[in-house]
Amino acid sequence: MAELIAADKAMDAALALLGAGEVVAIPTETVYGLAGDATNGEAVARIFEAKGRPRFNPLIAHVADMAMAERIGVFDPLSRKLAEKFWPGPLTLVVPLRPGSGIHPLVTAGLDTIALRMPKGFGGTLISRLGRPLAAPSANSSGKISSTSGEAVASDLGARIPLVVDGGSTPVGLESTIVKVEDGRVRLLRPGGVPAGDIEEVAGAPLLRGVTAGIEAPGMLASHYAPGAAMRLNADAVAAGEALLGFGPRRADGWQQARAFLNLSETGDLREAATNLFAHLQALDRSGAELIAVEPIPFDELGEAINDRLARAAAPRDNSHV
Ligand code: TXA
Ligand code: MG
Repeated sequence: MAELIAADKAMDAALALLGAGEVVAIPTETVYGLAGDATNGEAVARIFEAKGRPRFNPLIAHVADMAMAERIGVFDPLSRKLAEKFWPGPLTLVVPLRPGSGIHPLVTAGLDTIALRMPKGFGGTLISRLGRPLAAPSANSSGKISSTSGEAVASDLGARIPLVVDGGSTPVGLESTIVKVEDGRVRLLRPGGVPAGDIEEVAGAPLLRGVTAGIEAPGMLASHYAPGAAMRLNADAVAAGEALLGFGPRRADGWQQARAFLNLSETGDLREAATNLFAHLQALDRSGAELIAVEPIPFDELGEAINDRLARAAAPRDNSHV
């Protein structure tokens, strides 16, 4: 069973385990990550095992500074500009993998590109102390909702990993935005913690959307983030026995008879809603309701990523990959 140690006391224990090729769950500003040394094949294999994640789905390599990033990936001028603007922070850049980077091929699932991110806080310090990049997917069983607290990680993965570093609730609450620069244009592969509009401002052009060929972000399977309960989005009414996930001050009809009710943000603040999203979904799932009705949420700013995760949570379940 995993030990749960507060972040301000966990650095040495985390370094010792990572140095020995073990995996450790760590807080980042987005969601908790399940980290292992990205240059150590055994450590990376342990990540896939602990999550039950299909090995064709590549991992993000987390770096401490730009020098480490440039040793691993090849940066075009626009990717570098985005890194300078948004790192450390909730943006992941997919760039060509640099030959001789030392990254174990399991991390990229054999692709010739790599997803890179520089996290804030505990993760950033940990990587710079370790001196090596950390491969880290979200710290949840494959196909389940990402964890935004140490306790959520411990109850999901605790039996399969030695340490959960507890940094409290993650401030952003949604995974990073993933982009890839193609011929001087930025393609959005996954909406996330940096709103698309903020990236467009830096890029000076609208983002390209949708994928060109193949599955660009292989983890974007439709039914990712599935809670046990079924979901109904854009609900304007609730039936007795259903749970309700609210947003803003207006309530869906019949909300008084909901089996459980939580509001993402009473004031309709999308940042607050992002922070609460996964924890509220987990809590409503635990209420035992067979269906979670979700009030409409606007698509602007972080609303794009929130609606993306809700759509995946509501999608028909395809368990063939987990
Ligand atoms: O905020 C986050 O991004 C968190 C924290 C822990 O950093 N990590 C996270 O990792 O969400 P994960 O593994 O749950 O999602 C990473 C996504 C997957 O959908 C994967 O398919 C995609 O990134 N990905 C990884 N490498 C890629 C590549 N070379 N090209 C395209 N997509 C890639
Ligand atoms: Mg994930």
